[in-house]
Amino acid sequence: MPEVEPLSSMGGEGRLELRQIGVSFGGVAAVRDVSLVFRPHVITGLVGPNGAGKTTLLNAISGFASVERGTIELDRSELTKLPAAQRAHYGVVRGFQTVRLLEGETAFDNILVGCERASQPNIFAQLFNLPAQRRSWRRDRGAAAEIAERLGISSVAHRPVAELPFATRRLVELARILVVRPKVLLLDEPAAGLNAHGRRQLTETLQAYHAVSPFTMIVIEHDVDLVRRMCSECVALAQGSVIATGDPGHVLDDPEVRRAYFGDQVHHA
Ligand SMILES: Nc1ncnc2c1ncn2[C@@H]1O[C@H](COP(=O)(O)OP(=O)(O)OP(=O)(O)O)[C@@H](O)[C@H]1O
Ligand SMILES: [Mg+2]
Repeated sequence: MPEVEPLSSMGGEGRLELRQIGVSFGGVAAVRDVSLVFRPHVITGLVGPNGAGKTTLLNAISGFASVERGTIELDRSELTKLPAAQRAHYGVVRGFQTVRLLEGETAFDNILVGCERASQPNIFAQLFNLPAQRRSWRRDRGAAAEIAERLGISSVAHRPVAELPFATRRLVELARILVVRPKVLLLDEPAAGLNAHGRRQLTETLQAYHAVSPFTMIVIEHDVDLVRRMCSECVALAQGSVIATGDPGHVLDDPEVRRAYFGDQVHHA
């Protein structure tokens, strides 16, 4: 019986195209007429003031918010009407908010949970413990070990996550997401709650991983220095609309973006 490969490992580069996306809540527009192309393998920072529609836009892409109008395409496959689970199967994965760590389990087993969600071998193979099931089990353990190694958490992989420092736990969460080999990774304020050292560790680890195993990534982040360091493209939203796109330096210095972000204050970061 053939093993079921996660669709995220299937062809296509991870080009994401949004055309005229609109999302409303009770008649109030949270995202208005947003058209954007996210190029394969590029890390794009999504910035804008509170309530700009950043989270709503990511939710529209991942399928956690339904769009009122517009289309979403990944490598020319239309995702617009697909439920979130199916989009995840196509490789569009949202990080950090969907799953919590299993506190009593080791870091390694927490990473394995990501594999289980991704591969889900054929139910008959599971029932009868056919070779496919054993192969998939070995493959998952290998993948989990490799991710732990690459994210620098191998030495704590055997420890229950409840014992680990906050910043290390964040890396375990990241490992659990990356182990599914996302084609498009959506992160909503991944460094929130971390101190300066933790933020740097997380972003440098993520960048190093991405440099070797690239994927398309959209990251919402309020820390503009982090956006400048990590992202090669940037999109600014205000009141649900795109107000600037392009190089992060260019976007973050744009007068309209600065007005929207910092109000009347002229803030030199
Ligand atoms: N589930 C919801 N029901 C009703 N209104 C919502 C819902 N989610 C978001 N909104 C509204 O949509 C608008 C955009 O919110 P969103 O959370 O997308 O902004 P954001 O840019 O992520 O802000 P923040 O930086 O504070 O996280 C806001 O006016 C918000 O109040
Ligand atoms: Mg938000």
